[in-house]
Amino acid sequence: MEITLDITAIYPGTFDPVTLGHIDVAERAAKMFDHLIIAVAASPGKQPHFDLQHRCDMAKEVLSDYKNVRIETFSGLLVEFVKAKEASVIVRGLRAVSDFEYEVQLANLNRQMEPDIETVFVAAASQYTFVSSSIVREIAALGGDVSQFVHPLVETALKERNNQ
Ligand code: COA
Repeated sequence: MEITLDITAIYPGTFDPVTLGHIDVAERAAKMFDHLIIAVAASPGKQPHFDLQHRCDMAKEVLSDYKNVRIETFSGLLVEFVKAKEASVIVRGLRAVSDFEYEVQLANLNRQMEPDIETVFVAAASQYTFVSSSIVREIAALGGDVSQFVHPLVETALKERNNQ
């Protein structure tokens, strides 16, 4: 008997803004799973620089070439969103050992709440291991060149936001 799996994975984050590091993780996850939902978290505690809809729209545009990838927003518990989407996997990117402790804590907490949801870690490409959204925002705010870290559309959005 042939068993056909149809797996939906969720890649959550604040994506404030989405970076080439995030795109790299999303690209590789999209090859591993049938469907990938990039879940842009409201993350009110982080007081995001870009509002939720803008973060979602930027991710949509930069990932528009990937046919099995869609972008949605969520607020509240991640595991509730995963269940509502009938997904079974959470994808997280690991950049360096320093990410490991926090990521394992998140994965364990999520598993404690929902034992059927598995977290899968994707190792970030070496050229992006030092990239983070806040570093990109800081460089852009100080007038630096962020073109090697973000899509041109995001670079423009950062410039516009900083000129406001
Ligand atoms: N490339 C580039 N940057 C990366 C990256 C990669 N591959 N992986 C992580 N980062 C960066 C992010 O941009 C972020 O940068 P910043 O802190 O400078 O903004 C930083 O690393 C931390 O990222 P992350 O751990 O993904 O935090 P997050 O805020 O983006 O996402 C959630 C965290 C949304 C997944 C988590 O808070 C959550 O699940 N929230 C929902 C509420 C919930 O369920 N809470 C209980 C969880 S147990």
